[in-house]
Amino acid sequence: MKLHIKNFGCQMNKLDSSLVTSALIDRGFELTDKAVDADVLLMNTCSVRAHAEERVMSHLGHLKRVKKSHPDLIVGVIGCMAQRLGEELLDHPAVDLVAGPANIARIPEMLEEVLKSKNKSIAITEKIRRKNPQTETDTLDKFELAHDSDENHIHGQAFVRVMRGCNNFCTYCIVPYVRGPEISRPPKDIIEQVRRLGEGGIKQTTLLGQTIDAYTYTEGGKTYKLADLLKMVSEVESIEWIRFITSHPGKFDISILQAMADLDKVTPYLHIPAQSGSDRILKAMNRKYTASQYIDLIEKARQILPDISIASDFIVGFPGETEEDFQATVELVKKARFKNSFVFKYSPRPGTDSANNLADDVGEEVKRQRNLDLLAIQNAISEKDSSKLLGRSVKVLVEGLSKKPHVNMTENGNNPQLIGRTATDHIVVFNGPETLTGTFTAIRIEKTSALTMFGKLE
Ligand code: SAH
Ligand code: SF4
Ligand code: F3S
Repeated sequence: MKLHIKNFGCQMNKLDSSLVTSALIDRGFELTDKAVDADVLLMNTCSVRAHAEERVMSHLGHLKRVKKSHPDLIVGVIGCMAQRLGEELLDHPAVDLVAGPANIARIPEMLEEVLKSKNKSIAITEKIRRKNPQTETDTLDKFELAHDSDENHIHGQAFVRVMRGCNNFCTYCIVPYVRGPEISRPPKDIIEQVRRLGEGGIKQTTLLGQTIDAYTYTEGGKTYKLADLLKMVSEVESIEWIRFITSHPGKFDISILQAMADLDKVTPYLHIPAQSGSDRILKAMNRKYTASQYIDLIEKARQILPDISIASDFIVGFPGETEEDFQATVELVKKARFKNSFVFKYSPRPGTDSANNLADDVGEEVKRQRNLDLLAIQNAISEKDSSKLLGRSVKVLVEGLSKKPHVNMTENGNNPQLIGRTATDHIVVFNGPETLTGTFTAIRIEKTSALTMFGKLE
């Protein structure tokens, strides 16, 4: 049986895809990167914006036609959109299986059943916001421990989930409704998993959580916070770099900055989305901080970690966002001087507070323009930021062949173009042997642009 899996979502979803893939390989499936060769096609979906769901729906439309000539093809929709739409997706003529993020451990069994009986199968969580019974959490933890392996990831690096779900209920966001309540995983499971990955050759681990700075686990009378966890992961010898995403500015504690400064292995990088620079909009978003509190936090981070690089997300065109509100966001971007920012146009998500209570009243054209304007401002800042590295030698962890052919000014024999990342998450393109993938190497930077730098092996 050949399996092909397509990913539409964030790192959390990518990790789920790898776990499911590994569980299916253990049951005799073979992975193919060509969808046309597949007997089973899984789509791991995202609900965060309408566009992410539209892409899946159009894919399903296509698959409905494909199935006319390949009636044995099995199509599964898993992930956040599966949890959100449930039966509605199962009714789609192209779909055989639907499973939400809390049910990934059941997929192998469900799939075997579907293959045998040809009946459709669904596993979603009815009351997703109800506190998960311990048995469900244990099942997911076991699944995670059993199936996270070095083969699942970019060579040399691995994602490790430290938290599931989210309790923040930012008014625009679907995540709490599809990923359920916040649950921190036991430190001992996390450490065991990291240790195992390290033994398999992993050099960098990225700890994952929707609001990772809120990590908290109490055991034996001691409460472990993110700073404690970072210290424990640092003690795993084979691991050299540790990242953690994503932080919520409202929860962020100085102890985390202190741990970053004290622990050499923790990279000086923070992804800490601001979403807006207008206090009025931040309040309507239920973000629980003001623009000046956000800026104070960034300044504090730069005091403690002078080389830190900071990335953010923004939503433009939130309901009621005026030109003045948008200018406040522009001001925040100029003050914060992010390494990079992801900018999204507000997309009302069914069932969220903002979609229920606020009219999506900023026109598409205004959203588009604000998106472009904010990106242009960020771009100028990013260009300046990366130019600081010009002429310098940087250490990168090599990720592999560069997917896009870049116009690289530098030459290095007949070697292919590789891509690597610095500790500060800057992307570096250089020519080198592919065997460097998964290792650290030094690159002399010879050219920089907003998002990519070019250099030569030292
Ligand atoms: N947990 C992370 C974000 C997860 S979603 C955090 O709290 O920072 C990733 C990003 O998608 C968010 O940071 C936000 O900028 C964007 N986003 C979420 N919901 C959105 C919506 N309804 N419309 C547009 N962008 C959205
Ligand atoms: Fe969504 Fe807010 Fe939770 Fe992030 S913190 S996942 S934006 S609800
Ligand atoms: Fe991630 Fe999208 Fe789900 S951002 S958590 S895949 S809704």
